[in-house]
Amino acid sequence: MSQTITLRIYRRDPDLDTAPRYQNYQIELTPGLTVLMALYHILENVDKTLAFRASCRSAVCGSCGMHINGMNRLACETQLAPLGNEVVIEPLPHLPVLKDLVVDMTTFWDKYERVRPYLIALKAPPEKERLQSPEDRKKIDEFIDCILCACCHTSCSTAWWDKEYLGPAALAKMYRFIADSRDEGAIERLKIAAREDGVFRCHTIFNCTEECPKKIPITFGIQEIKKRVLWGKLTGKL
Ligand code: SF4
Ligand code: F3S
Repeated sequence: MSQTITLRIYRRDPDLDTAPRYQNYQIELTPGLTVLMALYHILENVDKTLAFRASCRSAVCGSCGMHINGMNRLACETQLAPLGNEVVIEPLPHLPVLKDLVVDMTTFWDKYERVRPYLIALKAPPEKERLQSPEDRKKIDEFIDCILCACCHTSCSTAWWDKEYLGPAALAKMYRFIADSRDEGAIERLKIAAREDGVFRCHTIFNCTEECPKKIPITFGIQEIKKRVLWGKLTGKL
């Protein structure tokens, strides 16, 4: 027997609505139906005005992060069946809403840029490529998986209230480069981490790690940066 569920979707068109509202859509539950498939179904067959971001449908591009039944998740990999008869879908929290489920990511990208998210090389390049041993590659394996979905950043209650705090995504990216054997910018990055808006604003709340769809141990990376900043201060290198 077919089962119908209700999607309760946050709607706000700044050109039309003075306040956000929720709109209900009934949808037939089919095997393997994901939140993203359901959103596309609504867009293509029911309501062409619904706005959301998506691209790869494979949990790789990081575009479809949203707040689903109280948790930040990727719509493309979230199955509807286990979520119950009513599923509430909202934009990622604490970022300005541009329309419906689409948020303004400007502050997220600004913070990402602040940690200099690329390899910094101080020495002249070798004749061939910069080599890395399999053991050293393993040290950054998990952190390389970040898809910049902002699920961690928008789940961190410190980042909600402290708009200057770098936040977990930027710090996870910083750790990815600090721990990379080919990178020579650790001191420069640690100076950024040591600033007032940096790593010590993290109160080890762990929401970021819990809500990361790629299961990156973000809080571990942040603690590693804290240790390195303290080491730098104690040794006079920072
Ligand atoms: Fe998304 Fe995880 Fe990267 Fe944060 S660390 S942006 S939650 S993939
Ligand atoms: Fe926020 Fe994660 Fe730290 S949730 S406070 S960045 S451990």
